[in-house]
Amino acid sequence: MCPKRTDTAQNPGDPLSVSLKEIKEGKVSILGPKLELYSDKNRIEPCWAPIFYNPAMEVDRNISVAFLQSFSKAGSKKLRICDALSATGIRGLRYAKEVENVEYVILNDINKLAYNLIKINIEKNDLKDIALPFHSDANVLLAYFAHRGRRFNVVDIDPFGSPVPFLDNAIRAVENNGLLCVTATDLAPLMGIFQRACIRKYSAIPIRCVFSREIGLRILIGYVVKTGAKYGLRVVPLLSYSRGHYMRLFLKIRTGKKRADESLDKLGYITFCPRCGEVQIGKYSFLLEKKCKNCDSKVKIGGPLWLGELCDSIFLKKTVEVFEEFFGRKKEGFKILEKLLNEHGMPPYFYTTDYIAKTYRFEKEPTLNSIIYSLREMGYKTTHTHFSTKGFKTYANVNTIVEAFRRASEE
Ligand SMILES: C[S@@+](CC[C@H](N)C(=O)[O-])C[C@H]1O[C@@H](n2cnc3c(N)ncnc32)[C@H](O)[C@@H]1O
Ligand SMILES: [Zn+2]
Repeated sequence: MCPKRTDTAQNPGDPLSVSLKEIKEGKVSILGPKLELYSDKNRIEPCWAPIFYNPAMEVDRNISVAFLQSFSKAGSKKLRICDALSATGIRGLRYAKEVENVEYVILNDINKLAYNLIKINIEKNDLKDIALPFHSDANVLLAYFAHRGRRFNVVDIDPFGSPVPFLDNAIRAVENNGLLCVTATDLAPLMGIFQRACIRKYSAIPIRCVFSREIGLRILIGYVVKTGAKYGLRVVPLLSYSRGHYMRLFLKIRTGKKRADESLDKLGYITFCPRCGEVQIGKYSFLLEKKCKNCDSKVKIGGPLWLGELCDSIFLKKTVEVFEEFFGRKKEGFKILEKLLNEHGMPPYFYTTDYIAKTYRFEKEPTLNSIIYSLREMGYKTTHTHFSTKGFKTYANVNTIVEAFRRASEE
């Protein structure tokens, strides 16, 4: 049964007064903003349009469809999905059309123009039976559904900037063994460009360094884990990645205080030496050395952050298979998922060829493949990473990596 729609519209908005165009994505065809009207010096800025649509996020929507399909296949229940910040409705409509076993999808947006466009797009795709438009503040909507018997088995939070203002209600609105999907685009705080903003929003210290993107992703996961733990909920990342301007998480929510404690046990701290690149990891910040054991310089400390795996290997493998079946191997999403599979089980940080070449003053930057080959020859498991095209993850310490660079540059 679909829940009743609540309409809190104050100012009626006619989306048809906005310049719209036909957009095809996946199996849906929607009306969306004419983005070419909202550009500045050849830079298209989706946020400037009266209704938001970002074509660059198709990569993520493809990954999300593939993930939800594998999640749906793994369980027996029909999916009750809440796309709490929907804009044109594209994400939720794609779930409704492309994922199997969906009972209903709620498509909600606080913007009246977006809400009216969602209604048009539902009609346009013949999805009236399973897609429900809502016009509400996402927090009000999610809080209403955060009660026994009303909860969703999938909640998707895709806001402008930080997901923090929506996380408490979103997590409470997910039923036991359900799924929480989270996007963050506030990379400047998470990656340490605005350190104080990260401390303020995420109660964690970021580090500006070669792998700050991974630190940011892990701070974000850690924050969701802590939010769940407050409510006696265990949060486990099934798939997490970062690309371009955003980070994206798919997290399983389970009830149980003991389980919540187990997740909290996977939080910890990381140190980075800005002089030589040495990294240390530990559960407690006070047990980590404040000086680098390699070069005696003062290290930077970051955290608390998630030190467990970014993905669940079973879900990841299934998602790779579904993605190939749905979208083929050539799409960017497939390459991201393949790299995630490769880097599974590797340390929670990475280096890049340009960082090592610059820090250790190598005249020439070796190719990534030559370094990976060289480290493997020396007996160290080493992989590419989805975080950076020049990045690699390895079990070798920084001195061994430098030795591999020397060998590669002598060839
Ligand atoms: C990044 S867009 C969503 C993009 C969409 N999920 C997609 O895939 O295209 C964020 C949306 O959240 C809406 N929004 C912002 N604050 C909100 C709130 N408190 N409650 C509901 N919607 C909100 C905005 O109007 C905007 O349409
Ligand atoms: Zn050092």
